[in-house]
Amino acid sequence: MVISMAMYNDKVMEHFMHPHNAGDLENPDAIGNHGSPVCGDMMQIAIKVKDQVIVDAKFKTFGCGSAIASSSVATDMIIGKTLDEALSFTNQSFIDELGGLPGPKIHCSVLAESAVKNAIWDYAQKHGLELEGLKGYDPTKEFEHEEEEECEV
Ligand code: FES
Repeated sequence: MVISMAMYNDKVMEHFMHPHNAGDLENPDAIGNHGSPVCGDMMQIAIKVKDQVIVDAKFKTFGCGSAIASSSVATDMIIGKTLDEALSFTNQSFIDELGGLPGPKIHCSVLAESAVKNAIWDYAQKHGLELEGLKGYDPTKEFEHEEEEECEV
């Protein structure tokens, strides 16, 4: 399936053209990386945490417009949330916030869920925290999702 710009809604385009929270975070408390097994693109999310609340977050994404839009809304959504609240977000939460993504681009939002989880996992490891949302979580395991279609944009 060939993806064209016309398949993206205005909100996705806005976050792609003017992403929020892009760049480096000074002295981050934790960092999460994830690479897509579908396309090989990469996302990094860095967080600052105070009293188990994410007080700041920034992303760096080597990927498509959907991945950049997903990074933008994901960082917007986790800032101000507790670690547990941020762990409750799935890639579908980010897709819903964006108002939808074309089917073959669903995997791009999975990068954001995994990068957020990996950042919180990194924080929990450094601080010896046991968080309910990380029970059984293995950051080295491939994230399983249903969309495996290749996209061409
Ligand atoms: S993240 Fe690779 S195509 Fe979207």
